[in-house]
Parts: sequence; C-alpha cells; structure tokens
Amino acid sequence: MKMLVILIKEMAESFIRNTRLLFSGAKQNQINSSLKENGLVRVHDFYSKDECEKLRTKIDYYIADETTNKWIDESGSDHRIYFINEIDEDFNRFYEHPKIREALLNYTGTKEPSGMLLAARIDAKDGNLGSGGGWHRDSPITHQFKAICYLSNVDSNCGPFQYIRGSHRKVNVLKAYFLGLFKAGQYRFTEHEIESYLDKTDSKVTDFIATEGTVAFADTKGIHRGKPIKEGSRYVLFCYFWNKDIPTHFDNLRQK
Ligand SMILES: [Fe+2]
Repeated sequence: MKMLVILIKEMAESFIRNTRLLFSGAKQNQINSSLKENGLVRVHDFYSKDECEKLRTKIDYYIADETTNKWIDESGSDHRIYFINEIDEDFNRFYEHPKIREALLNYTGTKEPSGMLLAARIDAKDGNLGSGGGWHRDSPITHQFKAICYLSNVDSNCGPFQYIRGSHRKVNVLKAYFLGLFKAGQYRFTEHEIESYLDKTDSKVTDFIATEGTVAFADTKGIHRGKPIKEGSRYVLFCYFWNKDIPTHFDNLRQK
C-alpha cells in the first residue's frame, strides 16, 4: 500500500514539475542534461582565490560574533550561518548569481524562488558525522536543486561532499524499494544500507574533490552527505531554493 502511495506521489511530482518547466522559459543545455543524468555537475573557477579568502574571513568573523544566529552540531564541528545573504551583500551576490538562477530555472522551472544562503565551516573534531549528519536525501520525492561552493581546497580528508550518481532518478529511487534495499519513502540511511545499495545497484560514491572557488550543482534528492572530516576545516556555501514558502522549521535559523 505504501509503495502505491509513493508511486502516485512520484507521478504527481513529475507532472507538477514538467508543467512548471513548460511555461517557465527553461532551456536544455549541457549542465541541465548532466544534472538530469548524474545529479551532480561541476562548474570550475566560480570564485578567485582572493574572493574565497575574503569570504572565509567573513565566515570566521560571523561565527565568532555573539550576535550572529548560528547552528552548531553536537560534536562542535559543524558551524552554520543560515540566511547569511540577508545580512551581508557579498554573500547575497552569490545567492542571486545569474548563472545559478539560470541552472535552477532550467532544472526545476522555478523563476522566482524563495530561499536563502547557508555559509558553513566544519572543523575536524573527534566523533563528527560530517556535514548533514550522515547519508540522506533532502527530500524522498521532490527533486531539489542546490548550488554548493567550496571556499577552501577540499581533498578526501577535508570532508568532501559525497554523492551517489544517478540515485536521484525516479527509476533508481523506485528500484531500491522494489529490491527491498530501502523502505518506501525512506530518506536517511545507515552506512550498512548504503554499502548494500552500492553493491546491489552497481553504483559508486563520488567524492566532490575540488579547489577553492569551485561550484557544484546537485539534485539533493540523490543520496549524499558530507564525508566526516579528518583534518583542517572546510568552508562552504549552500544555496537553498523553494518554489513556494521557506519551510517553517527554518524560522529559528533566521538572522535577527
Ligand atoms: Fe542534504
């Protein structure tokens, strides 16, 4: 019964999104095709070294500043400043960047999104789970577009964004339920569940390793996490977008 409900919800999601795309002026291009196919696309040299350094310094300043509304995880590793675009014009420029808005429009049909920019610094600390608290989908049904920008160099020890290519596609979402790998509608996963998913579906984890200033566009309906960080700090920006109001659970994360 639950499977039938999921199937209907997936079909409704396709219908709503495709209708929106039809009337939005969205265009097909290389980035969009790759996003549809893989769920993750790399865009090089979005920001210069100097720009990254300037934004890192600002993130440190806001984290140290007592008046900033911050979210910090239990291990004291992940420091997040949501809605930073509303208090700082340098960050707002990234949030409103035309290249990002174009990719959002082409992928979701959303012309005038609601949303915000999250700036985060994650530090190597014992027991950290990585950004996002482990493997998950941002939504079990709705396709999501996120732009992610590294503001520091990220290698495999610095908590890279990890993504399972193709796991966002409806056919693969449904296949995982039919194979009994995941429960219908499940969106958080244990390491063990991910290992058996990779094994049974012949999929691989992609570590998004890149230099500072590189951007990734991702459909975060696909399975992803921040890899637990072993050394140094990772500075990152995440653009969140919705085609309706911002969900109310973000209300206490707003800047005053
Ligand atoms: Fe996520």
